[in-house]
Amino acid sequence: MGWNSWNSFANIVNSQIVQRQAQTLASNGMKKAGYQYVVIDEGWWLGERDSAGNIMVNAKQWPALQPGQKDGDMANIATYIHSLGLKAGIYTDAGKDGCSMYPDSGPKYLKTGSDGHYDQDFLQFSTWGFDYVKVDWCGGAKEKLSGAIQYAQIARAIQKAEKTTGRKLYFSICEWGSQNPWFWAPGVGGIGSDIWRTGGDIIPPVVESLHDAEHEKRVITLGNILDSFDAGLHPEAQHTGYFNDLDMMVMGMRGMTDVFDRTHMVLWVISSAPLMVGSDLTRISPATLALLTNEEALAIHNDPYGLQPIKVDEPSPWIQIWAKPMAIAGRRAVAILNRTDAPVQVKVDWKKLGLKGTPKSLRDVWNRRDLVSANATVSVPAHDLALMVVEGEDEAPAEYVANQTNITGIEALRGPDFARLHYTNTTGHVAVLRVTSTSGLSTAIALPPTVGSEAGTVGLILPKGTADLSFEGQAAEISKLDVYAW
Ligand code: GLA
Repeated sequence: MGWNSWNSFANIVNSQIVQRQAQTLASNGMKKAGYQYVVIDEGWWLGERDSAGNIMVNAKQWPALQPGQKDGDMANIATYIHSLGLKAGIYTDAGKDGCSMYPDSGPKYLKTGSDGHYDQDFLQFSTWGFDYVKVDWCGGAKEKLSGAIQYAQIARAIQKAEKTTGRKLYFSICEWGSQNPWFWAPGVGGIGSDIWRTGGDIIPPVVESLHDAEHEKRVITLGNILDSFDAGLHPEAQHTGYFNDLDMMVMGMRGMTDVFDRTHMVLWVISSAPLMVGSDLTRISPATLALLTNEEALAIHNDPYGLQPIKVDEPSPWIQIWAKPMAIAGRRAVAILNRTDAPVQVKVDWKKLGLKGTPKSLRDVWNRRDLVSANATVSVPAHDLALMVVEGEDEAPAEYVANQTNITGIEALRGPDFARLHYTNTTGHVAVLRVTSTSGLSTAIALPPTVGSEAGTVGLILPKGTADLSFEGQAAEISKLDVYAW
């Protein structure tokens, strides 16, 4: 959760802009709600290096901010961001060239990528004090590189840098889904947590201070939001620690209404997608801010399983019921999405959510009220949605008991099927499991450490087919897998 400079500032990003956004994030309630990263996207570096290959930046764009600092040192802004109790993020490309400030006007800069300098650059980012790095793919695509290979090399460079500096450098892959990253990005290069973009850019940047014809005509539509959501659904790849990235959020930006904002928020929250806000935080309305900091919505987003939702029903065309499996047994977050031009009354068939009978409780999140009857219909206006948290009793799952380091022959009959894995991991660090399925799925699941004899659970979503789970030689223990038929 955090802020990213690209959508609202594109290539005009500089120290002053980042300081103002960071101050706003720290003081408007967002930091308190859990937004912590301030990420500087493309535009911070114009591609220059010194004779030893070290990155050199424009001294005016990144001046000293306190006595003892030098102009043109990226540590200045990282230190500033840290002084507000926030974390700092930076950006590069996996290839030699970057995106040349695509698609914005102004000079195009080449050589803003890290190919040939992975170890040097990622160590530099970490030494400057950055905690997060987004790695784009324009240069990689131009050189026709393999994403799986390049991002694994980068993951290893990141892990080396982390060892040297002792600082965590969070890995954000931005390959736009072009080489199916959901098959290789979870745990790429042995990394314990990462995110990967699943599609192209949600919008071209809308920089309010630029008044050229191109910027003037840019307006965001609900279609931009729905397209990113649809392109981002790869639930089988997403587990604790590994997340599909639906792209930076555009709430409150030009063209967005309160209803579009709410739809945007619900779809990202129910997907446990990264909430990296791309809006100019000094301009967002109290209504947008209230949505971004809504505690009940964020509790859904931060559910420890971090799973994407399953589309459990489409009672009529373009009326969709999405249910997110959650860590607490019998709990689901449910979004009823009305993609049509007319209001609808929807009656949820609870059986389709894997519940026995009707739910014990039903919470209407936006209206902050408990609904009295599970049999009532829910009204959803045109191009809007309802968000509920439902508690009930799960239908009994099919149980698969582990044989020490593996579980084989797991049947996911319907697909996608929710499953709950029971394990213990007293190694003190994340252990990685491999999952393969006859559907073609091959992915990794991170098992966070557990304490003493207490068992942990993680959630996963299996595609239709027969799956096998096995360890990659790590000393954690899996005990059983419960597969639910929904
Ligand atoms: C690509 C990325 C965007 C942004 C721009 C910067 O288009 O997908 O998120 O980083 O590059 O040029």
